[in-house]
Amino acid sequence: MRIKNKYKKPMTLRCCDAGSRCSTSVFLLSLLGCLILFQLYCYVDHTDRSGGGGEARLHVSHHPQVRELQEVEEENLNVPPPKGKRSPRAVKRRPKRTTTLIDEFLDENSQMRHVFFPGHKRAIDPMQVVDNDKYHYYPGRMWLDTEGHPIQAHGGGILYDKNSRTYYWYGEYKDGPTYHAHKKGAARVDIIGVGCYSSKDLWTWKHEGIVLAAEETNETHDLHKSNVLERPKVIYNEKTEKYVMWMHIDDSNYTKASVGVAISDAPDGPFNYLGSHRPHGFESRDMTVFKDDDGAAYIIYSSEDNSELHIGPLTEDYLNVTSVMRRVLVGQHREAPALFKHQGTYYMITSGCTGWAPNEALAHAAESVMGPWETMGNPCLGGNKMFRLTTFFAQSTFVLPIPGFPGMFIFMADRWNPADLRDSRYVWLPLIVAGPADEPLEYSFGFPWWSRVSIYWHRKWRLPQGWNPFQTM
Ligand SMILES: *[C@@H]1O[C@H](CO)[C@@H](O)[C@H](O)[C@H]1NC(C)=O
Ligand SMILES: *[C@@H]1O[C@H](CO)[C@@H](O)[C@H](O)[C@H]1NC(C)=O
Ligand SMILES: *[C@@H]1O[C@H](CO)[C@@H](O)[C@H](O)[C@H]1NC(C)=O
Repeated sequence: MRIKNKYKKPMTLRCCDAGSRCSTSVFLLSLLGCLILFQLYCYVDHTDRSGGGGEARLHVSHHPQVRELQEVEEENLNVPPPKGKRSPRAVKRRPKRTTTLIDEFLDENSQMRHVFFPGHKRAIDPMQVVDNDKYHYYPGRMWLDTEGHPIQAHGGGILYDKNSRTYYWYGEYKDGPTYHAHKKGAARVDIIGVGCYSSKDLWTWKHEGIVLAAEETNETHDLHKSNVLERPKVIYNEKTEKYVMWMHIDDSNYTKASVGVAISDAPDGPFNYLGSHRPHGFESRDMTVFKDDDGAAYIIYSSEDNSELHIGPLTEDYLNVTSVMRRVLVGQHREAPALFKHQGTYYMITSGCTGWAPNEALAHAAESVMGPWETMGNPCLGGNKMFRLTTFFAQSTFVLPIPGFPGMFIFMADRWNPADLRDSRYVWLPLIVAGPADEPLEYSFGFPWWSRVSIYWHRKWRLPQGWNPFQTM
């Protein structure tokens, strides 16, 4: 643990040669001492509550297979000298203080294309897999479903369905042509719908179909193919026994800035679309929903021109917002929020706002989901500097807890391919909450009240064996 410089100063006992000032100093020092002890107690207490359940008493970071995942893996990429003409996409990016690696990433003619968008040799491909590769994730490769088709679940999230003990992965089904609706418009694919995949092992994914489909003919409908449907997330409501989907609904110019809601009796759909609105009367673009342990659910969305996030509880049936809303990370221009909880503390990963181009992720933490939220810094470790400054050339979308390993999560991100959005890739990496934070809070007297959130780069990795206690039941 480390104390911020600011608080080190009173400890240099310079003043103790002058009587009354000295006693004040001693008093202040004792007070500071008490506060530090209190903070230390709270920190230890916080840390002690780890590994609550059953077999996993050991803190997750002491588990040998988790330790392996915490090893920092470096990448040395040599950027080739520019050859021939750059694609307009790469040339357009100004100012030019940028790194050539991002230019290479955005240039579909780059000689390094295969580094960022490698082919579909294996990855998740249960039909061709060799034993050594089983259960391994290859971030950035093309991932195939059980039928051998590329998985279409972009900007997605995962629901663990307790009723069927199955994981459901929902996301944007983008298997159509990428085009620009008009000159200034962003690259887009018409709405096709929300893709759904099921899995027991988080590795073999069976396509369950499009569970919410685009509207082909009715041009005034939110889901008309000319509109935008992004970041669908599904939560289960125990009281109504319904599966509720929330998503970003927009027109092709992103001026509608609304949220849509759909509902289903089964996790694999079909979902019935209920309509859209601006939550609390505000613009809403990138968004997610988060269901807490106590069954309360919240919506978190980028608002006010993406300059801040808004958080508010949903109604008991999860079908609407309530009138309560808090503004968080005001003026920080964050999007792509992904929330999770560990030992009573709430954490969130966000990205910056640079369209389809990758940027730096930040981790945030809060005692209450409604805030205040504090920023803890960039969670990415390994790769190289460019990898860390671009979230491994990807953007956050969801963080999934791993049962039996408290403190271990899968960080799910999208590596967007703006030249051909259907070919965007999935970057899943281990996210581990452990150890002191880099940037301790101002009001905690420099002590890291919260643990560090770390996302570890690996070219290839797998979940620790025996992670799934439900599998054997
Ligand atoms: C088209 O969609 C709108 C909005 O959902 C709806 O009000 C209208 O009835 C629909 N029209 C037809 C012909 O289905
Ligand atoms: C989007 O903006 C373009 C250019 O400003 C305009 O031509 C088009 O009509 C707009 N589309 C919608 C759906 O608002
Ligand atoms: C959702 O809640 C808002 C107020 O919080 C209310 O104005 C609106 O009518 C509600 N919508 C529905 C569909 O119940």
